[in-house]
Amino acid sequence: MNTVLEVTGLEGGYGSVQILNGIDLTVNKGEFVTIIGPNGCGKSTFLKVLFGLATHKQGIVTHNGTDVSGWRSDRLVKRGIAYVPQVDNVFPSLSVRENLQMGGIQLRSRKLVECIDRACNMFPDLEPRMNDLAASLSGGERQMLAISRALISDPTLLLLDEPTAALSPRYQQQILENIDELRSGGISVLLVEQNARLSLSKSDRGYIFAGGKVVLTGDASSILNDPKIGEYFLGLHQ
Ligand SMILES: Nc1ncnc2c1ncn2[C@@H]1O[C@H](COP(=O)(O)OP(=O)(O)O)[C@@H](O)[C@H]1O
Ligand SMILES: [Mg+2]
Repeated sequence: MNTVLEVTGLEGGYGSVQILNGIDLTVNKGEFVTIIGPNGCGKSTFLKVLFGLATHKQGIVTHNGTDVSGWRSDRLVKRGIAYVPQVDNVFPSLSVRENLQMGGIQLRSRKLVECIDRACNMFPDLEPRMNDLAASLSGGERQMLAISRALISDPTLLLLDEPTAALSPRYQQQILENIDELRSGGISVLLVEQNARLSLSKSDRGYIFAGGKVVLTGDASSILNDPKIGEYFLGLHQ
C-alpha cells in the first residue's frame, strides 16, 4: 500500500514543554484516519507539530517517502499538505470570497476562480454567502469555509482538527459526509474528532491517544464494535 504520511517516534510540544511522547502513525493513500482521545491528550498538538506550528523535538515524519520532519508550513503546503485548525480558522472581518482568495494567494487568477467554483460545488451553502463577512456565518458554515479555504491549495493530504465541534447534529453529519467525499476523490484525510462514533463510522482506521501517546489503533469498525474498547476509551456503549 502507498504510504502518504508515516510518523515514527514523534516527540514534541511547545518549546521545552513536551506533550507528545513518541507517536507512531501512518496514513495510506486515499485513507480516512481518525484520532480520538480525551481533552488535553495532545491531539491538536500532534497536528500542529506535523504542520510545522509547534516544536518538533524528535522522531521522523515522512510525506510520500520524503523526510519532512520539522519543516515549515509553507513548504508543506507546496508539497500538498493542508491543515484546518480547531479554532480561528477563518478571517471574520473578511468576506467569504476574500477568505477563499487568501487560501489561494499563490495561484494565478484563472486557477483561483476554478478552485473557488469547486469549493462552491462541494459546499453549495457558501455560494449565496460569498459577499457576506465570515463573521456573519453560522458555526457550520464557518467550518465549511475553513475546509474550502484549505482545499484551494489543492492538497492531497488534509489535516483537520475537530471540524464538527459545537455544531448541530445536521451539520456534524454533513461535514463528515463532505470529508468522506474528499477521500473518495483521492485526498487522504487525517481527522481529529471528539465525536468518536460518527467519525469512526466514516473512517478506515482509528488511533486513540492518551497522555501524548497512542494507546490503541485498529480498523475503525473493530474499535466501534468492540464493547470493551468502546466503553473503556470512548464511552460509546453506555
Ligand atoms: N501553546 C501552548 N503552550 C503550552 N502548552 C500548550 C499549548 N497549547 C496546548 N498546550 C497544552 O498541551 C496539552 C495538549 O493540548 P492539546 O494538544 O490542545 O490537546 P487536545 O487537542 O487533545 O485536547 C494540554 O496540556 C495543553 O494545556
Ligand atoms: Mg484539540
